[in-house]
Amino acid sequence: MDAPLEALRTEAIAAIASAADEAAIEQARIRFLGQQGALTALSKGMKDVSKDDKPRIGKLLNDVRAAVTAALDERKAALQGDADKAAFSGVDVTLPGTPAGFAGKGTLHPITQLLDRTTAIFRRMGFALAEGPDIETEWHCFDALNTPADHPARNEQDTFYMASSDGSAEGRLLRTHTSTVQIRTMEKTAPPIRIIAPGAAYRRDEIDATHLAQFTQMEGLYVDEGVSVADLKGTLEFFFRELFGNDAKFRFRPHFFPFTEPSYEVDIKTSMLGATDRWLEIAGCGMVDPAVLEAVNTKRGDRAFDPEKFTGFAFGFGLDRLAMIMSGTPDIRYFTNSDQRFLAQF
Ligand code: DAH
Repeated sequence: MDAPLEALRTEAIAAIASAADEAAIEQARIRFLGQQGALTALSKGMKDVSKDDKPRIGKLLNDVRAAVTAALDERKAALQGDADKAAFSGVDVTLPGTPAGFAGKGTLHPITQLLDRTTAIFRRMGFALAEGPDIETEWHCFDALNTPADHPARNEQDTFYMASSDGSAEGRLLRTHTSTVQIRTMEKTAPPIRIIAPGAAYRRDEIDATHLAQFTQMEGLYVDEGVSVADLKGTLEFFFRELFGNDAKFRFRPHFFPFTEPSYEVDIKTSMLGATDRWLEIAGCGMVDPAVLEAVNTKRGDRAFDPEKFTGFAFGFGLDRLAMIMSGTPDIRYFTNSDQRFLAQF
């Protein structure tokens, strides 16, 4: 049986080598290795082989099968290689590719980048992230924050009011500031509270170089026993130094906010902003007004925020305005009109 097996090996390898495509290779496989194939036919002769020759012939059968299988695989790979080469013909794959320009590679929006940075600084000081809804009740936006019904901020010219869909007496509005999250947090958490709340705020402002109808604020609230103005000043100065550098100078200028007493506006002067002779207003802040704590107590139906026991500070600033100051952007509308030439600089 040796001779026919060797002959089959030679014949099969020659046939496979000349197979011109996948179909021809498959035909060769069926012809030599298939169930009705030549090798199967020869292996039926095993039963007539003498006992002494059986191991040798058996091994030869396996060798021939392995050789034919290897030849089939090799030919298939060679044909695939030829096909790949044909596909790349005329293409020089060693030439440099087309670089991904700013149109292809995205970056985080500058306001998002600043939001991430400011959040990280406050987190290091132990402030947790809090949030509240953009669509608010008048109570959360104004009453609870000690802002009476005749206060100009409640004017329809400043606030987006909407009709209540459920016919309830109290209408809804788009929050005019993130201070609402102070109330939302105190409603469901007892002191000590140390939170920041970044988010959107809305006002019916005429849109111009320094005003948008929707902008981004960062709110802060700290309520505990013995919180003082010194804590407020220390916290905000540390925060703004992290952003603006160690040589920054601060001025806490007395101001009025309904929900804090005393209240301040924070001005900053720093070499990082170039003009060191000019004070820039960057935030509002103050000590939480006891009337705010009492409004929360009444709503909660307990004395969790007893003003005799707890004091707190709050602050708020505009992230868009801060981003404008830090980047020297002259017009706030650059942040919303999606001009890649502007955004790609950040
Ligand atoms: N809510 C104020 C605004 O939108 C900013 C502000 C001022 C927030 C003083 C505060 C604060 O928490 O204490 O103009």
